[in-house]
Amino acid sequence: MIREAAQRLAAAGVENAPRDARLLLAHALGAEPVEVIMRENDSVDIVMLTAFEEAIQRRLCGEPVSRIRGWREFYGRRFAVTPAVLDPRPETELLVEQGLKRLDQAGRVLDLGIGSGCILVSILAERPDAVGMGLDISPAALALARHNANALGVAGRATFIEGGWGHALPGPFDLALSNPPYISEAEMAGLAKDVRAYDPHIALTPGGDGLDSYRAILRAMPAWLRPGGCIGFEFGIEQAGAVTMLMRQAGLTNIDVHRDLAGIQRAAFGRRAP
Ligand SMILES: C[S@@+](CC[C@H](N)C(=O)[O-])C[C@H]1O[C@@H](n2cnc3c(N)ncnc32)[C@H](O)[C@@H]1O
Repeated sequence: MIREAAQRLAAAGVENAPRDARLLLAHALGAEPVEVIMRENDSVDIVMLTAFEEAIQRRLCGEPVSRIRGWREFYGRRFAVTPAVLDPRPETELLVEQGLKRLDQAGRVLDLGIGSGCILVSILAERPDAVGMGLDISPAALALARHNANALGVAGRATFIEGGWGHALPGPFDLALSNPPYISEAEMAGLAKDVRAYDPHIALTPGGDGLDSYRAILRAMPAWLRPGGCIGFEFGIEQAGAVTMLMRQAGLTNIDVHRDLAGIQRAAFGRRAP
C-alpha cells in the first residue's frame, strides 16, 4: 500500500513521497508511524483503506501532511494545527533553542504572533519556572494556542491576548520572541502551492517589503521589554541585514544572528540597554 501510494504521490511531484505515504497510512490506521513498519503483515479493513485513500487524495491535491493529520511535531511535542494558523516550521525551533539560552530563572516570556502556540508553549514546557503571554490578532489562532497549552500542561502559566502589534501589554517581559509574517508582496506570487493555499494570508505577509511587522514590534517594544531584556526574531532568507539594522536603529545592542540547520541566517537576538 505504501509503495503504490508513494508512486502516485511521486508522479504528482510530491517530494519525499514514501515518507508521506507511510505517515498517512499510520494516520489512517490510527497508529504511530513506526508501528506501520512493525505491522506490515496485518490486514487492513475497508474503513481504514477508505481513510487512507481519502488522505492520499488530499495529499495529491497539495494539502500538507500536517493539515491532513491535524497535528505537527515541533520541538519534540505534538501541536494541533488548523486552517487558522501557520503550520509550524522546523526552522522556528531555532528561536526556541536560542530563547531558552537567554531566559533567566523564573523569567517572563512574550510571544508576538503566537499562532499555534508552538514557540511559547515549547518554552513553558521546557522551563516549568517560566510564565508567558501570547499575542495574536487572530481569535481563532489564540483559541488553538490555548488548546495546545492545555494539552501540553502549561495553560496555568500562559495568558493570551487578542490585539495588534501596538496593543498595550502588561509588561515588563524578560524575553520577547516573534516569528511575524515577513514575506514581501512581490515574493507572495512565487510561493509554493502548499504555502500559498494552506497557510493563512495574515500569517505569511504584512504586505509591502515584508518588514512592517518588525518596524511595528520594535516601535512598541519600550513599553513592555524590561531594560536589559532580550528580543529575538525569526526572518526570511536574505532579510538578516534589514532586520538587524532595524534592531540597531531601535537601540538594541549585543545583536547575534543565528543560522538554521540548512545554514541560512534565520534568527537574530538583541538586548535592550540596561
Ligand atoms: C508567521 S505566523 C507565526 C505563528 C507561530 N508563532 C509560529 O511560529 O508558527 C505569524 C502570526 O502573527 C499573527 N499576526 C499577523 N499580523 C499581526 C498583527 N498585526 N498583530 C498581531 N499578530 C499578527 C498571525 O495571525 C500569525 O498567527
